[in-house]
Amino acid sequence: MKFLEARQLTKRFGGLTAVDKVDFDVDKGEILGLIGPNGSGKSTTMSLVMGLHKPDAGSIHLNGVDIAGWAPNRIAGMGVSMVFQHSRPLQQQTVLQNVLLACLPNKVTHLRVTDAQRDRALESLRLVGLGGMEEKFPSELPFAGLRRLEVAKALARDPDLLLLDEPFAGLSAGEVREFSDLIRNLRSAGRALILVDHNVKSVAALVDRAVAMSSGQKIAEGSPREVLANADVRRVYLGSQSETVGANVRKRKSEASPVLIVKNLNVTYGKAQALSNISIDVVDRGVTAVVGLNGAGKTSLFNAIAGLLPSRGEIAFRQQSIAGTPAHEIARSGIVLCPESRELFGDMSVHENLQLGGMHLSSADKRERLDFVEQIFPRLGERRGQYARTLSGGEQQQLAIGRALMMKPKLLLIDEPTLGLAPIVMDIISESIETLRKSGELSLLLAEQNMVFASRHADSVYLIEHGAIEWSGPADQFVEQVGGKIL
Ligand SMILES: Nc1ncnc2c1ncn2[C@@H]1O[C@H](COP(=O)(O)OP(=O)(O)OP(=O)(O)O)[C@@H](O)[C@H]1O
Ligand SMILES: [Mg+2]
Repeated sequence: MKFLEARQLTKRFGGLTAVDKVDFDVDKGEILGLIGPNGSGKSTTMSLVMGLHKPDAGSIHLNGVDIAGWAPNRIAGMGVSMVFQHSRPLQQQTVLQNVLLACLPNKVTHLRVTDAQRDRALESLRLVGLGGMEEKFPSELPFAGLRRLEVAKALARDPDLLLLDEPFAGLSAGEVREFSDLIRNLRSAGRALILVDHNVKSVAALVDRAVAMSSGQKIAEGSPREVLANADVRRVYLGSQSETVGANVRKRKSEASPVLIVKNLNVTYGKAQALSNISIDVVDRGVTAVVGLNGAGKTSLFNAIAGLLPSRGEIAFRQQSIAGTPAHEIARSGIVLCPESRELFGDMSVHENLQLGGMHLSSADKRERLDFVEQIFPRLGERRGQYARTLSGGEQQQLAIGRALMMKPKLLLIDEPTLGLAPIVMDIISESIETLRKSGELSLLLAEQNMVFASRHADSVYLIEHGAIEWSGPADQFVEQVGGKIL
């Protein structure tokens, strides 16, 4: 008997079978990888194990007990913890309080935090690299910090079975290595783990066995090597990314003057200098990429350009200064920001979110634009009526980019376009970037951790480190001169 045994697990949402008769096992001291395209049912499968959804059919035996359909707190009491794909910390509580609250037992009589619990919470924060951040509030943490906080919350409960939903999303290569070590240590300590992530290389290096899903069904199982070599998996999940190097897009040198010029931009948060003397030129009707590690300053730069963050320095859009202009006016002038946090309207449908993006367009224009967006992301067309909050992670990312495109931007800033996307969807994004480039209707500024992806598309690249530009130049030179050192 394995520690966890799921049999014929099934979950339906209306007419959609999100998980379809899936079988899998995981034992103590073992990591099971769950891979598959966006919307294939991975998060739903984990939620069934955690008790967040009730299965329509099937069994889940944990240590010999069928826990299928139990309430989440009872399942948590059996030693199961989950790191969710979306970080939702309590904003009014500090980082430490968030972790402590996650460990409280379900009895009102036990609501006092013991010294041992406090020590454990502090230790978990240290393990995930948040040591020293205990008294900060979640809003003060960068995106990757929030992901770390979720892992700390799960660890603090000392689980026997840990479900990790995209722990690597938004992390840099170095951070992924740190997290991988942490996960390996949990395995050595005899925990059972299920890992979902689109960082295929890191998952393959870490897991003992992999299960691949597609449209709710299990399509392959075996060693990571076997599963990644499987023809179906390559077709539905990996796409061209299964070849190690994709063809580089032919870049052209833009004769036009830059569409956006940023000169000596400075941003401070309190006493901390977030950006120092940043200067960039955004290629007109081309693709410009800002690359760099987490916390390097990419998001601050984008927010400053969009007018969401006070800054000092010059910002000129089509030869007009926009420094100090209110955000809504900047948006109206044609600069649209697609933020890392997506900012979708969760209680509105996919269609309503897209409609809102195209609010200012005539109805004919809006129709044409919707067709264009649904052509790039067919899934959005299939799921028009679905609430945005119930979309899978990668589907939400597609909606965020789709909504930004609905605004018909002249300059589109996308913060981490590939976040949470299956490799095959990166192909779609790649294609759409090239379609947009050919259409000549907009200029793109991308912030990317994925330097391979960025340099493949960009005409020019800026590398930011600690809030300052460390390197800039054409993309092919970036790969030669800098790529090897940091990739
Ligand atoms: N409450 C819901 N109502 C309707 N559809 C839902 C609901 N929850 C999930 N779905 C759909 O079920 C499918 C499976 O979603 P799930 O979140 O499990 O995918 P995933 O494999 O985790 O994808 P990703 O890699 O993008 O996170 C998706 O198409 C999603 O839109
Ligand atoms: Mg998911």
